[in-house]
Amino acid sequence: MIIKTIGMLGGTGFVGRRLANRLVRRGYRVKILTRDRERHKEDLILLPNLDLIETNIHSESYLTEHLDGCDAVINLVGILNENGTNGEGFKHAHVELTKKVISACQSLDIKRLLQISALNADPNGPSHYLKTKGEAEDLVHAAEGIYATSFRPSVIFGPEDSFFNRFAFLLKISPIFPLACPNARFAPVYIDDLTSAMVQTMENKDYYGQRLDICGNETYTLEELVRFTLDCLGIKRLIVPLPEILSRLLALDFDFWGFVFNLIKIEKPFSMDNFHSLQVDSVSTKNTLQQFVENPVSIKAVAPGYLNQLSYRSDYMKYRQTSRRTN
Ligand SMILES: NC(=O)c1ccc[n+]([C@@H]2O[C@H](COP(=O)([O-])OP(=O)(O)OC[C@H]3O[C@@H](n4cnc5c(N)ncnc54)[C@H](OP(=O)(O)O)[C@@H]3O)[C@@H](O)[C@H]2O)c1
Repeated sequence: MIIKTIGMLGGTGFVGRRLANRLVRRGYRVKILTRDRERHKEDLILLPNLDLIETNIHSESYLTEHLDGCDAVINLVGILNENGTNGEGFKHAHVELTKKVISACQSLDIKRLLQISALNADPNGPSHYLKTKGEAEDLVHAAEGIYATSFRPSVIFGPEDSFFNRFAFLLKISPIFPLACPNARFAPVYIDDLTSAMVQTMENKDYYGQRLDICGNETYTLEELVRFTLDCLGIKRLIVPLPEILSRLLALDFDFWGFVFNLIKIEKPFSMDNFHSLQVDSVSTKNTLQQFVENPVSIKAVAPGYLNQLSYRSDYMKYRQTSRRTN
């Protein structure tokens, strides 16, 4: 299969921007479909061989129109929280959209599809996030005539990530920091290690049909990661690890005030769905990163560099920017 042009959905986000850069450098032509070209044009428009196209990606006919001419598609659309709490937002962004992407690929005879899922994605998972990510993953692997590879990363870090940057912002503005689910475990993976793996699989038949867990080499509890963030910032805060019952109450509280976050257009810092996702550790015994990267980058090697140089204002702007992950 010869791949020259790649269509991307969700290509304007943290992972997508970095991946698009790498693909362009490898000589691919990239078409990113976005809901809002104006918001992203500064980040992406200057890349050669990259078209940033504003369209309604939830319309199958527009998808088909704009993916025409592509030899492969990468679907990176994902949200961590929905506006409501009944799972419909997750279903819309993860499952319904994936169905339309598959349909568009089939009608255009595009055979190669890369899907970003999440570690522990499972149709029977404990949260709407993990369930719908799992359903979407199953759909791409069951699709007739499509060679799919799905990527199941733990939390991803790198400049402009939503994880460390968000905690950095919240820690700076809170003298006392109540931390829900402090014992949840993660194996953070560096953005460039993930995108390197994605690019290496693009034209490699061995990865057709594979579901790849992608983790860094080190595992940490959430509390360790938050304390690490604090060290990088060089500030002192009282972190209060919450037991399960108080973690639940905090989640319920944020869900209750969710409409306020919707009004000011930022993502709520925590939700009941996040609480449910955190009941399964984001670590894996089937990590495949070593197939692609010899020495994965650790958080200690790069996170201090991008965490200790931000002002309050740029933190807030970054927090808003990385808070787009709602339906
Ligand atoms: N970051 C992590 O730690 C992490 C960990 C595990 C898995 N993942 C998965 O990796 C993928 C990329 O993550 P990311 O951190 O790059 O996310 P991100 O920065 O939030 O970007 C996601 C992109 O998806 C699009 N999008 C968001 N909501 C949408 C909706 N309702 N309908 C259509 N498009 C929508 C947006 O594109 P437009 O605004 O241009 O339309 C956005 O740029 C996601 O699928 C995520 O679930 C991320």
